[in-house]
Amino acid sequence: MAPVGVLPATGGPTKDFGGRITSSVVVTCVVAASSGLIFGYDIGISGGVTTMEPFLKKFFPSVLRQAGAAETNIYCQYDSQLLTAFTSSLYIAGLVASLVASRVTAALGRKNTMVLGGLTFLAGGNINGGAVNVAMLIIGRILLGFGVGFTNQAAPLYLSEVAPAKWRGAFNTGFQFFIGIGVVASNFLNFFLSKHPWGWRLSLGLAVVPAAIMTLGAALISDTPSSLVERGRLRDAKQSLIRIRGAGADVEGELDDLVNSVGAAKAADREPFVTILERRHRPQLVMAVAIPFFQQVTGINIIAFYAPVLFQSIGFGKDSALMSSTILGVVNLGAILVSTAVVDRYGRRFLFVAGGLQMLVCKLAVAAVLVAGTGASGTEHISKELAVAVLILLCTYGAGFGWSWGPLSWLIPSEIFPIKIRTTGQGISQAVNFATTFALSQSFLAMLCHLKYGAFLFYAGWIATMTLFVVLFLPETKGIPLDSMQGIWEQHWYWRRFVSTTVSA
Ligand code: BGC
Repeated sequence: MAPVGVLPATGGPTKDFGGRITSSVVVTCVVAASSGLIFGYDIGISGGVTTMEPFLKKFFPSVLRQAGAAETNIYCQYDSQLLTAFTSSLYIAGLVASLVASRVTAALGRKNTMVLGGLTFLAGGNINGGAVNVAMLIIGRILLGFGVGFTNQAAPLYLSEVAPAKWRGAFNTGFQFFIGIGVVASNFLNFFLSKHPWGWRLSLGLAVVPAAIMTLGAALISDTPSSLVERGRLRDAKQSLIRIRGAGADVEGELDDLVNSVGAAKAADREPFVTILERRHRPQLVMAVAIPFFQQVTGINIIAFYAPVLFQSIGFGKDSALMSSTILGVVNLGAILVSTAVVDRYGRRFLFVAGGLQMLVCKLAVAAVLVAGTGASGTEHISKELAVAVLILLCTYGAGFGWSWGPLSWLIPSEIFPIKIRTTGQGISQAVNFATTFALSQSFLAMLCHLKYGAFLFYAGWIATMTLFVVLFLPETKGIPLDSMQGIWEQHWYWRRFVSTTVSA
């Protein structure tokens, strides 16, 4: 049956093979999205564990001494390079893994890459839970990094390839939702376990639980039709399509289309890291670099890693600091669901801009409240009321991130690339995400110490820049099938000069 022609918002015919939401596609996607659990768990755990006294005493005693002695300035208490190296070693490993993973994901498939990532994370969690010295901590974190490097690469691609085009945004936000669940669960754990001398060990070791859940889940689902076609398994690809699209869908049409795209990609037979640098792929490449970079310079991880530290240093007690970051996580989770509900209705651009403006206002306000509460040098004691105001502003900021740059930064890179360079683009995007997270987390405490409230203004400047970037350069991708995505660049006021002057392969 011939595909039905529809006209997307950007114009130009695209194919709609009649894919509906079937229970099978929902279950499969929920399972795939649960891969986000391990990344979220790690993000939440590291921030909390690094404020646990027995942990610091055992591995980083100098940080503890410094925190006790330096009461002069709220911004400088935890500025230790070794402590930040512990947190950010994962990101270097993740960066390396992402680049390798682009090949693994193409060769072994999305599903197998998720399983591999889960198993590596499981090993890392075990080593960290049993750590007796800093070396074991770092080795464990490197394995965790490889784990998330693999799963973060494969899961968003899986979701975008399996979801019906009309609902791709909603399904893809599931990944960020599970990241959020991981963050909240680990914050809760930290909150209760911080009271025990061996609590840090459990917090780190329990990483094996989300890893086991997602690995088992990933092992039970079938791979995406595109990936199966890419690996020459046509019969399995057809079975997979029948299962996820349900009766009544034009499975033959979709399969033919996949076979054609993959055939064209294979005929070109070029090194994908070279192909992606060609002028005609410039718009996608720019997005693969800019989107994750911008996501990180919203400053979200600074808040996620250091929320407990931050709240503690602006006058919340230890317990209320951990509780506050849990509240922040729950608000963020609710906001992701808002994104799920509207991303395929109002589109990606609308959410990016609305969320961006919200985050911008909050960052500026936090800087103002900190100056009002602690003085320009941060030496005065902040009142409880103003500390609560900071918490409310950060929650509103977290909500803005939750319905915009959080989920959409996984969605956009996974949906804009043609199949021949899809895993390469996703790999680059992941590597940029990790590299930027590393650079920021390595420098944030020093930056907070030197720039003080100006650190928040620094991020506000970036948020203004990225919002403008989206308005000018990011075309709308809502509802457009992956194979028809080329049209959005051909019609874009700026990008069309890159894609229309050359003949596409
Ligand atoms: C980001 C992470 C961040 C998390 C917060 C993810 O989308 O990539 O860096 O920590 O969201 O929930």
